[in-house]
Amino acid sequence: MPCQSNQELDVLIRKVSPYTKHGKVADYIPALGKANPSDLSIAIHYPDGMCISAGNIEKKITLQSISKVISLALVLLDRGPDYVFDSVGMEPTGDPFNSIAKLESVSPNRPLNPMINAGALVVTHMIKGNSVEQRLQRLLSFVQKLAGDSTISYCEEVARSEFETAYLNRSLCYFLKQHQVIDENVEQLMDLYTKQCAIQMNCLNLARIGQVFAMDGIDLKLGKRVIPHDIARICKTFMVTCGMYNASGEFAIKIGIPAKSGVSGGIMGAVPGKFGIGIFGPSLDEKGNSIAGIKLLEMLSKEYNLSMF
Ligand code: DON
Repeated sequence: MPCQSNQELDVLIRKVSPYTKHGKVADYIPALGKANPSDLSIAIHYPDGMCISAGNIEKKITLQSISKVISLALVLLDRGPDYVFDSVGMEPTGDPFNSIAKLESVSPNRPLNPMINAGALVVTHMIKGNSVEQRLQRLLSFVQKLAGDSTISYCEEVARSEFETAYLNRSLCYFLKQHQVIDENVEQLMDLYTKQCAIQMNCLNLARIGQVFAMDGIDLKLGKRVIPHDIARICKTFMVTCGMYNASGEFAIKIGIPAKSGVSGGIMGAVPGKFGIGIFGPSLDEKGNSIAGIKLLEMLSKEYNLSMF
C-alpha cells in the first residue's frame, strides 16, 4: 500500500512548497484574497479509517468548485440522471470555468457540463426544498454525512463576499433563465450557490469525502453505502474529464487521478479502490488550480504509481 506515514507526506510537502511562490491567490472573490499563499497541507484517508497528513491541517478552506461534485451527487440522488442531464451536458469545454462563450454557440443552450460555473448553477437550481435555507440544510447534511462530521458549515464572510461581487455568475443565470434552463429568481439562486461554494472544512474532511468517491460510494468505516454506485461513477468520470477545467487533459496524462479543484486552493482526489486525498494550497496557477497541490499529486502519482490509466 502506498504512503503509510505522516513523515512521507512531510517530505513531499517540503519538496513542493517552493512552488507556492510561483502562483497567486484568487482575489476576484475579495475574501479569498486574504489567504496566505504559502499555506500547504495534505491528508490521505484510507477506507479502513486510517488517515495520514502533513502541513497545517487544521486550517479550514471553502470548497468553491469542489462543492460542484457534491451538489451533483445530491441532485442525481434526488432527481435521477435523465432529469439532470436534460438540462446540463456531459462534455468538457476546454474553456475557463466561468466562460459564457459556449452557452451561446451550443444548441440547445444548456451548459456543457456540471463542473463549469454555468452547469453548476443549473445543478444548484435543482436542489430540492421550499427555501434557500432548507435547500442549504439538505446540502449541508449530505456533506456532513460524506465527511462524517456534523459540525461542517459554511463561511458567511466568503459567501457574502462572493454574493456581492458575482456579476459574471449572475450573467450566466440570466442567460440560462432567458433560455428556460432555469426558472428561479436569480438573487435567490445566487444566495444558495454562494453559500454552497463557501461550505468550509479542513483537508482531513476533504480526504474522507474523496475516499467515499474512491470506494464507489461506500463508507467502509461506517460499513454502509452513502452514494449509489452509479452516481459515484458519474461524479468520478466528471472529475477525470472536467475536474481541473481546461487543464483536465494534461492532468489526466501526468497524474491520472480523478480530482476536483476549487479557487480557494483545495483539491479533492479519489484514487479508485484505494484512498481519498484532500489538499489545501491557495496559491493558484493561471487556470485556477492549486499550483503546489498539482505538484504534490504529480509526485504522489509517480512515486506510488497511482495513475488509473
Ligand atoms: O463561482 C465561482 O466563481 C466560485 N464560487 C467557484 C469557482 C471555482 O472554484 C473554480 N475553480 N477552480
